[in-house]
Amino acid sequence: MPENRTHLLFVEDEAPLREAIAERLTDNGFDVVQAETGEQALERLSDFAFDIVITDLRLPGIDGTAVIQAAVERYPEIIGIVITGYGTVRDAVDVIKRGATDFVAKPFQFDELMHALNGALEQRRLKSENAYLRAQLQERYRFEGIVGRGRAMRDLFHLLETVAPTVSTILITGETGTGKEIVARAIHHNSPRRGHRFVALNCSAIPETLLEAELFGHVRGAFTGAIGARQGRLEQAHRGTLFLDEVGTMSMPLQMKLLRVLQEREFERVGDSNTIRVDVRVIAATNADLARMVGDGTFREDLYYRLNVIPVTLPPLRERKEDIPLLVQHFLQKFATELERPPTMTMSQTAMRALMAYAWPGNIRQLENAIERAVALSGGRSQIEASDLPPDVLQVEEGNPSFPPLSFPDEGIDFEQFIADIEREMIRRSLERTHGNKGAAARLLNLKRTTLVEKLKRLERV
Ligand SMILES: Nc1ncnc2c1ncn2[C@@H]1O[C@H](COP(=O)(O)OP(=O)(O)OP(=O)(O)O)[C@@H](O)[C@H]1O
Ligand SMILES: [Mg+2]
Repeated sequence: MPENRTHLLFVEDEAPLREAIAERLTDNGFDVVQAETGEQALERLSDFAFDIVITDLRLPGIDGTAVIQAAVERYPEIIGIVITGYGTVRDAVDVIKRGATDFVAKPFQFDELMHALNGALEQRRLKSENAYLRAQLQERYRFEGIVGRGRAMRDLFHLLETVAPTVSTILITGETGTGKEIVARAIHHNSPRRGHRFVALNCSAIPETLLEAELFGHVRGAFTGAIGARQGRLEQAHRGTLFLDEVGTMSMPLQMKLLRVLQEREFERVGDSNTIRVDVRVIAATNADLARMVGDGTFREDLYYRLNVIPVTLPPLRERKEDIPLLVQHFLQKFATELERPPTMTMSQTAMRALMAYAWPGNIRQLENAIERAVALSGGRSQIEASDLPPDVLQVEEGNPSFPPLSFPDEGIDFEQFIADIEREMIRRSLERTHGNKGAAARLLNLKRTTLVEKLKRLERV
């Protein structure tokens, strides 16, 4: 079975030695590819994930140290073995520090090489067993497929465990893509209602006129197009959970009707006078600030308090970057399976750095999509590189996206000038946004209009 063979890259510039050893390695069951130079080795490594690279240390051009370094950089799991010449043991130590597993000194018996190889293979096996154990430990950092290990997520898991078994109404708040729906489902699946249905209704996806019928159902002829009678989502969710997504978009009249359901657990189908009683647990979600909408008069205060019995707030991803590596690992596994890629896919550290520096306005959904795309683009490689990531993620690889790049040249920087430049840029942009209206621009910057005008004058002088 070719998949089970161990693929080995053998780099040695002396042809007779190389060919003799390659032949014996092949006899011992390895699938051997030969390279004569470091350059050739890098080329081979760039398009194939070898299990093992054995390289002579002294090579014309790119030497063995660089070969090992490049190999380990690309494939953290690769086994690197160095063959050293006379008196280069010090170099061998150095190359081991750079990621080689072992070395063999010239001249050597073939058995010595085999001994080093077997030792390295055993070491790798143990390492992957440890990785497996680690992965199992990480199961602790999940709740029904919700991944997270930072303070915020551990508090959330604790809260979910406490409230899931109750019948209390829950209001989940969070930006788009923060996991509101996955949390709602997790609550349902950990409640005594799990044997009944979880019915989701996205209030913003359905035209206002149809939303009422969708929620409460209707009788035949209740409105144009109501050909037959139909059960609403409320009835479908009987004894289960009703998930009302984007509840902030609901019209005031419908809010009134929903309030009655929450208070009395009863309602009528559209066009019907028979009252129907239901037993549902309601979980609502919103990315709007409902408290503010109550203040603005666009959301009913009484409904808000009825929904907000237990508030669950999902923090944006940029406020819990410590969860990114775990999420990345989770999505790598998911998409490696879905796209039939090697199950051991990893993210290069450079790519990981870019992922952690980005602000993720679309939160976890956006991260998930970025990883799916990267896995798709990675071809046969076992490691995702920064270049596999979407361009917008890479653009802000360093620093704060809205902060100009700052470096300190030897002669230092002009502090006043630098600050003035930032002020000028902020004012320029606010004026651009407000089409030159200074009053509106001042409001955007939370400045008094007079302060803005003064600053403008002063900045013209700097
Ligand atoms: N903590 C998490 N661990 C793993 N996957 C997550 C997590 N949070 C969200 N996801 C995944 O991210 C995607 C978006 O989550 P979800 O649909 O629940 O977000 P949402 O807050 O409802 O977004 P929207 O407001 O846009 O509807 C889903 O594929 C979900 O499985
Ligand atoms: Mg959602």
